[in-house]
Amino acid sequence: MDIQFDFTGRTAVFFGGTSGINLGIAEAFAARGASVAVAGRKQDNVDAAVKRLGTHGGPVRGFVADVRDMESVAAVFDAVASEWGPVDILVSGAAGNFLAEVNDLSSNGFKVVVDIDLNGTFHVMRSGFEHLAPGASVINITAPQASIPVRYQAHVCAAKAGVDQLTRVLALEWGGRGIRVNAIAPGPIAGTEGLARLSPGDDPTGDRSVRSVPLGRFGTREEIADLAMFLSSSAASYISGAVIPCDGGGSFESVRAIEDAGRFLASSGR
Ligand code: HXC
Ligand code: NAP
Repeated sequence: MDIQFDFTGRTAVFFGGTSGINLGIAEAFAARGASVAVAGRKQDNVDAAVKRLGTHGGPVRGFVADVRDMESVAAVFDAVASEWGPVDILVSGAAGNFLAEVNDLSSNGFKVVVDIDLNGTFHVMRSGFEHLAPGASVINITAPQASIPVRYQAHVCAAKAGVDQLTRVLALEWGGRGIRVNAIAPGPIAGTEGLARLSPGDDPTGDRSVRSVPLGRFGTREEIADLAMFLSSSAASYISGAVIPCDGGGSFESVRAIEDAGRFLASSGR
C-alpha cells in the first residue's frame, strides 16, 4: 500500500471482532500500533483472535460479550476504559445472516437478525458514547442489503437499513463533540462466513458471484481494513455520516447472485 497509517497510542474496540472482516480490520490497527480490544459471543473465537492479534506485539484484550445484551457490551467498555482510557476508534460489526424468504421466517427468525445487527449496534453506540475520546472515529459495518432490496434477505435488509440510518443520525448528534460516525458497506469479501452463507450452492467455485463484480474478483479483508484505517485517519477529518460501499463497483449485481443462492436452497429443499 502506498499510504502509511500509524495508530500508535490509540485505543480501538471491535464488536464482532473475533472473525472475518472485523478481525481483519482489528488486525490492521494492531499492526499499526493501536491497543486493540475484540468482543464476540464465543470464548474459543475470542481466544483465537487474541492469539492472532497478539503476534503484532501490542496490547490486546478479548471479551466474551453478546451485543444483544447491553450490560455485557457496557462491561467491555468499562474494562477497556479503566485499563487504557478513552476509546479513539470504535468498530461495530457483529451480524447474523441466513437465506430465508419472508414466508419461511418465524417471528424469532426475523427478530434474531434485527437483535444482533440493529439493536446490537444501538447497544454498542449507546454504551460506547461516554467512553469515546473527543475526535473519535466510529465505524458501523453495514451491507448492500441496507439500500438494495434482496429476496431471501428481508431480515438483513431491514436490520442493515436501520444501521445506516442510525449511523447518519449519530453523525448529527455527536458531531458537536468532534466524533465522526461512518459506515462501510462491503461487497462480497473472499474467505468470509458471510460470503460462504450467501454463495450459490450449486456453484462451489463461486464463479457466478465473482462474475457479478465489475472488477472481476471478490474483495479482500485487507481492502475493507484499508478503508476503515482511512476513515479513522486525519485524511478523513471532514467525513462523517457517510455510508461508503467497498464492493468493486458491483453491489447491484452481487445481490442478484445472493438471490440465486436462495433459489438454489429453496429448490433443493434445504
Ligand atoms: C429460517 C432460521 C434459519 C434459516 C435460523 N433460523 N436459521 N429460520 N431459515 N436458515 C431461525 C431459527 O429457527 C430460530 O427461530 C431463530 O432463527 C434463531 O435461531 P438460533 O439458531 O436460535 O439463533 P442463534 O443461536 O442466536 O444464532 C443466530 C443466527 C446464526 C443469526 C441464526 O446464524 C449466527 O449465529 N450467525 C452469526 C454468524 C453469521 O451469520 N455470520 C455472517 C454474517 S455476514 P425459531 O422460531 O425456530 O426459534 C452478513 C453478510 C451480509 O451479514 C452481506 C454479504 C454480501
Ligand atoms: P463473521 O466472520 O461471521 O463475523 C461475525 C462476527 O460477529 C464474529 O466475530 C461473531 O463472533 C460476532 N457475533 C455474531 N453474533 C454476535 C453477537 N450476538 N454478539 C457479539 N458478537 C457476535 O462474518 P463476516 O462475513 O466477516 O461479516 C462481518 C461483517 O461484515 C458483518 O457486519 C456483515 O454483515 C458484514 N458484511 C459481510 C460481507 C461478506 O462478504 N462477508 C458483505 C457485506 C457485509 P461469535 O460467533 O463468536 O459471536
